[in-house]
Amino acid sequence: MNKPSMEDAARAILARNDRGGYTVPTDRLYPFQWNWDSAFVAMGFALFDVDRAYRELERLAEGQWDDGMIPHIVFHVPSDTYFPGPDVWGTKHRVPTSGITQPPVFGMALRQIHEAALKSGVPGAEDRTRRLLQAGLRFHRWWLQARDPEGLGLVSILHPWESGSDNSPAWDKALERVPTTTKTEIRRKDTGHVDASMRPRDEDYQRFIHLVDLYRDCGWDPRRQWTAAPFKIADVQMTGILARATADLLHLAKSLGSEDEKAELARMHQVLLDGLSRRWRPELSRFVSLDLVSGKDVEAPTQAGFIPLIALQLDADQRSAVSAEIARWIDAMVVGVPTTPTWSPSFEPKRYWRGPVWAIINWLISDGLRLNQAEDLARQIERMTVRAIEGAGFCEYFDPTTGEGLGGDTFSWTAAAYLVLNGRG
Ligand code: DGY
Repeated sequence: MNKPSMEDAARAILARNDRGGYTVPTDRLYPFQWNWDSAFVAMGFALFDVDRAYRELERLAEGQWDDGMIPHIVFHVPSDTYFPGPDVWGTKHRVPTSGITQPPVFGMALRQIHEAALKSGVPGAEDRTRRLLQAGLRFHRWWLQARDPEGLGLVSILHPWESGSDNSPAWDKALERVPTTTKTEIRRKDTGHVDASMRPRDEDYQRFIHLVDLYRDCGWDPRRQWTAAPFKIADVQMTGILARATADLLHLAKSLGSEDEKAELARMHQVLLDGLSRRWRPELSRFVSLDLVSGKDVEAPTQAGFIPLIALQLDADQRSAVSAEIARWIDAMVVGVPTTPTWSPSFEPKRYWRGPVWAIINWLISDGLRLNQAEDLARQIERMTVRAIEGAGFCEYFDPTTGEGLGGDTFSWTAAAYLVLNGRG
């Protein structure tokens, strides 16, 4: 009998992490449906099972709030292997959910699924896309209203968990303002599944939970949260993803939306592109986020500075500067792109978002480089990522200095990234 291929193994992970139309990121460590994980996973499914790809987004949309927010976790069924669970969030949605959100990769996934459906002729696809397009549109309206009330053309995160890059050095300065006191008793479960040296520190968790307590006390009302938030960062990673996803929704609306919806999405898109373009810092060769409480640029070097490439067409100078900068981050690494470069004092090769390489981040960066005609560098990053997964398995993240696989294993979005990036040859 033939040995199963890595692609078979990737599909087997997606099957094993299926909990009934939605995929957990990995067993036990993350036992529910996570927002951006599911969107990446849906793009993986779109390569071989379009119906299942739609299901992933449809199940995620079950968690959408009346105000349009799609939360970062949907707690479809109870589990006691994760903290903080629904009791800590205390939200009021019909399906229990968290009270914060995550990067809106949803719109990017929807376009890919729709295009795959057109190719393979899936029955009912148009209606399914139409319904999800409406969910996406409501989500993007929420972003602009709730998270850019001052009209900067940049959307803000109010909690590091929203960024998906929980303990990134980008948040260190802003988090110093957040007290370590909590009303909720902290009962971490993550360090029972994964070695503590690869996870955020206890002090980070105290601040994370302080913010959850504060926003729960605001009744999860976006306006009250905006006023109360000691942590408020207009984030270029989030805005880059939102801008790209808006372009993807606009593309779908051209055949499936109304004139008003097209005009609204086109307006949103332009506002976001303008906001992002203003965050380019030529002397750093990357984009920088803005701390809205201190008024200062977030200069800590992290992967976030490259994510706007998925939305913006750079000019020739920017393109060569950013390509050289990414090449510098990769240089001498066993696997790049590190989420924090080795020369940063904050670099820790094994600690979650403070250095390790994430396959989905490489996927976004290589898409951004391709969009900006830097195909060779994009291909180099894709091949590195595929090799890292073939060497260490479908791990949550990888040590850039050794290629060692870290964090949770049999990880769904790493499996999806493998299918997508390996498929590019
Ligand atoms: C966690 O619990 O580690 C998550 O990243 C929060 O979403």
